[in-house]
Amino acid sequence: MKRLDGKSALITGSARGIGRAFAQAYIREGATVAIADINLDRARQTANELGPQAYAVQMDVTLQASIDEAIAQVVGKTGKLDVLVNNAALFDLAPITEITRESYERLFAINVAGTLFTLQAAARQMILQGHGGKIINMASQAGRRGEALVGVYCATKAAVISLTQSAGLNLIAHKINVNAIAPGVVDGEHWDGVDALFARYENRPAGEKKQLVGQQVPYGRMGTAEDLTGMAIFLASAESDYVVAQTYNVDGGNWMS
Ligand SMILES: NC(=O)c1ccc[n+]([C@@H]2O[C@H](COP(=O)([O-])OP(=O)(O)OC[C@H]3O[C@@H](n4cnc5c(N)ncnc54)[C@H](O)[C@@H]3O)[C@@H](O)[C@H]2O)c1
Repeated sequence: MKRLDGKSALITGSARGIGRAFAQAYIREGATVAIADINLDRARQTANELGPQAYAVQMDVTLQASIDEAIAQVVGKTGKLDVLVNNAALFDLAPITEITRESYERLFAINVAGTLFTLQAAARQMILQGHGGKIINMASQAGRRGEALVGVYCATKAAVISLTQSAGLNLIAHKINVNAIAPGVVDGEHWDGVDALFARYENRPAGEKKQLVGQQVPYGRMGTAEDLTGMAIFLASAESDYVVAQTYNVDGGNWMS
């Protein structure tokens, strides 16, 4: 018996990176997964690569109509929604004196409002179904403390941790578990972008910041998306039924609390 047999999952931002790895892991455990992303071409490509238990869904988590349509598509396709992973997010970096209102609004729209209102729509559907569900929010070590150049992103991830606590406490009455994962530094296209931003603001050669953060991880290297899949499966499975409103660090030892 696989751990997610027959489950219907929706993973936002799963056309690439961590979301894609979660989709692959959920499929391996027997789930059917909606590869929901703002980039439909890439979502289609990913769904093709992952096989018949994956299907692409166009979704922009900043638009309520798009959230509602994505959930409707999942229910239309599989008859239900059992697992939501709020994974889509955007990163930016700037000294406090250079943060723009545009960057602030975009990051909060995706990382915070996108998480909250996708969670809300999924919870409404799960309550309607009447047999609970699992919601997993992607936080970050960035949400555990501020960083000199990462003010807005850190604030969005602190908000994700807080929303996980409130939603977790509120929705467990319906047997919906809301928990979060806080990764550290995970190699992939996302961090290539982060590295390029640090190169600009800290005046470093390309690749140096990435190497540095990897060396600083107690485990001895950057994480991979696959390093996170064990926790993602656990939080989506019945094994985590008694786990409520928690944020788990999966970061090679970077942060302890
Ligand atoms: N990579 C890391 O080091 C790291 C560390 C800590 C936390 N995280 C978190 O893990 C999650 C996944 O990170 P990743 O590294 O895979 O990121 P990524 O940038 O590789 O992937 C993000 C995906 O979200 C999609 N997306 C962007 N805006 C969207 C929108 N409005 N609606 C729907 N989809 C949208 C993108 O198209 C992309 O496919 C994020 O929440 C991120 O903040 C990542």
